[in-house]
Amino acid sequence: MGRAFILGVIVAILAVAACIYVLLAKGVIPASADSGPLPLEHWATRLSLHATLAKEAPRTANPVPLTDTNLIAGIQLYGEHCAICHGTAAGDASTSPVAKGEYPKPPQLATDGVEDDSEGVTYWKLAHGIRWTGMPSWKATLSDQQMWTIALFLKHMDHLSPAAQQAWQAVKN
Ligand code: HEC
Repeated sequence: MGRAFILGVIVAILAVAACIYVLLAKGVIPASADSGPLPLEHWATRLSLHATLAKEAPRTANPVPLTDTNLIAGIQLYGEHCAICHGTAAGDASTSPVAKGEYPKPPQLATDGVEDDSEGVTYWKLAHGIRWTGMPSWKATLSDQQMWTIALFLKHMDHLSPAAQQAWQAVKN
């Protein structure tokens, strides 16, 4: 009984592995960016992202102080590197040609409520990117200081000072 049971388990595991292989090898699981998500794909990627953030996102305060100069520096970095996917102050209306074809769609940060995330969580997403999405890791391009500066802007983007607001309205993608 013991040996037959173990053999059964091994055969079942091999059968599942063979099915997954056939689904991949025959292209039933598509590699295209214009087909919708597979069943459970959204659930699985969210579960992994939330678990990774809970384990790794820094809980420390933003080392970049909240000043107009730093907010405007963050806005300028955002305009250079992020607006092409995440849009401008106008939100969805200004979605760029790159963003339109991305899968999954990049959230339009002016309207999608990124201020609710802690600055440590945003910093982590910038530094490491988000696997299985088009969100790049920025640590090869931006310094730590620059990533925290962008995180500062995103945290405060819904209550900017007039000077920062003016800089934000001027960002194009
Ligand atoms: C090539 C397109 C692209 C570029 C450029 C890009 N991102 Fe992203 N980003 C994405 C995508 C796609 C997602 C959605 C990931 C997901 O579904 O979890 C994302 C997610 C995010 C999130 C999480 C949003 C949320 O509500 O969960 C933040 C914050 C973010 N990006 C910030 C930035 C910043 C800041 C920059 C510039 C330094 C940037 N991104 C550049 C594509 C991009």
